Amino acid sequence: MSDELSRMSLLWETIQQEEEYPIFRLTYLSKPTEPFTDADFDDIESKSVKANNERDVTGLLVVNEDRILQILEGREEAVRELYNKIEADSRHTVLKLVCAVEDEVRLLLTWNMVVRGLNGTPPDLLDQFSNVFDDLLHAESQSEVAIDHVALFKEIALFGTIPEKV
Ligand SMILES: Cc1cc2nc3c(=O)[nH]c(=O)nc-3n(C[C@H](O)[C@H](O)[C@H](O)COP(=O)(O)O)c2cc1C
Repeated sequence: MSDELSRMSLLWETIQQEEEYPIFRLTYLSKPTEPFTDADFDDIESKSVKANNERDVTGLLVVNEDRILQILEGREEAVRELYNKIEADSRHTVLKLVCAVEDEVRLLLTWNMVVRGLNGTPPDLLDQFSNVFDDLLHAESQSEVAIDHVALFKEIALFGTIPEKV
């Protein structure tokens, strides 16, 4: 396919995926009750992909030792219902609901992944993540999660999905 054709098909995809309803974006911070094991990750991942798809919810989950950050996007009712379930999960303790806002666009259109094995992630990215996490945690009021933050989380997520070398 020529470059021009690929661009056209990408554009067409975007037009087709224009949202029919306002997007509700919810971001929270939590910490694991016990360090997550591979079995925890497997369980969360296998349940999330199916359940989130069924609800048309996209999002991103970054777990870096004792810092967990999740963003969920979709129809408000679906996101809130899912969040109530996640919040009640005894494997972690929710520290803060950072923000819950309506938007016209999804920032995480094709994202539905659990991030683990951050060993291969450059330390400066992990430091940035820790700083953003701590700033959000200590902010007095609800904070808007900036596009720059989301870009950082996506970058981390992309490293997290690359299998570690054996
Ligand atoms: C940090 C964390 C994030 C989670 N994220 C999701 C998620 O995005 N979607 C989901 O369906 N379950 C997620 N879960 C799992 C849910 O809390 C719950 O175990 C799952 O929805 C199964 O619930 P059920 O068996 O009662 O239906 C998450 C759990 C944790 C600890």
